[in-house]
Amino acid sequence: MKDIVLTGDRPTGPLHIGHYVGSLKKRVEIQEEYDKPFIMIADTQALTDNAHNPKKVSENVYEVAFDYLAVGLKPELNTFFIQSLVPELAEFTVFYMNFVTLARLKRNPTVKDEMQQKGFGYNVPVGFLNYPISQVADITAFKANLVPVGDDQLPMLEQTNEVVRHINNHFNTAVLRECKPLLSKVLRLPGTDGLSKMGKSMNNAIFLNDEPDVISAKVMSMYTDPNHIRVEDPGNVEINTVFKYLDAFDPEQEELKELKEHYKRGGLGDVKLKKRLNNILQNTLEPIRQRRKEYEENPEEVMKLLKTGSEYARSVAAKTLKELKEVFTLNY
Ligand code: TRP
Repeated sequence: MKDIVLTGDRPTGPLHIGHYVGSLKKRVEIQEEYDKPFIMIADTQALTDNAHNPKKVSENVYEVAFDYLAVGLKPELNTFFIQSLVPELAEFTVFYMNFVTLARLKRNPTVKDEMQQKGFGYNVPVGFLNYPISQVADITAFKANLVPVGDDQLPMLEQTNEVVRHINNHFNTAVLRECKPLLSKVLRLPGTDGLSKMGKSMNNAIFLNDEPDVISAKVMSMYTDPNHIRVEDPGNVEINTVFKYLDAFDPEQEELKELKEHYKRGGLGDVKLKKRLNNILQNTLEPIRQRRKEYEENPEEVMKLLKTGSEYARSVAAKTLKELKEVFTLNY
């Protein structure tokens, strides 16, 4: 069977450079290699923790679509679609819920982290706890075997494969397909505060649509080695966020090695490093921002593209759903 690629993002805000190095860049690299990867804007999943503010989600569907197109994902090489426009996914989810225990959902490490972050405790909405199952639906409905995601999504793929094996074994069928991640070289970029994961709510993210002066200000205020006080002091490369970003973005990796040695010895100032990073980020983000502006001026065109993709996605999901219903003897 040919490789099928599927991936997606929750539309809760514009995407940041952590998304870029964590998975968007990889998606751009592989778009010619595979036959029309599916790229889903996961609005239904985004509602699982924004149900009382759905407008935030529907508005950000556009932002995420702009980001996709801006980073160079080509409409003719990918199938972009909106999750809620493929209602079959909800039906898959309902069936799969019978094959996953509550205990298993509560053990999912990513869900656990998020529940803690959001302070849900016992009052976790069922829909939120259940979102890994809807993600199993997203992946299996298209028989996707390759999923380009950041490492925080690995628990979702593990759960997917558990459901796939469970159903395939129990019903002695091959209707569902196991998947594996396509990981980027850079797994996770810390926030500009150096302390936590990059995120909108943490106020520590550089967004793909940030203006040049905003990017500079964020770079200049980045967390470095707090013990590196005078330029001549020896510095700690490992805890300096600027180096982590340079690892991800600097095209001159050999030169970067020398800079690290210099920093360790002492005599290399943080401002110099920050200026280097700022230049590199400005160069990387400038064409992305320009392309984004062109799409921002044509939101109707972009929505048309998403709707066309969604119709096609729907036809694929419906076909798999029919097969699954046959397996369940619900083929009336
Ligand atoms: N959980 C992903 C995120 O938070 C979005 C997503 C939903 C997804 N369904 C998916 C990713 C299927 C890959 C495959 O960004």
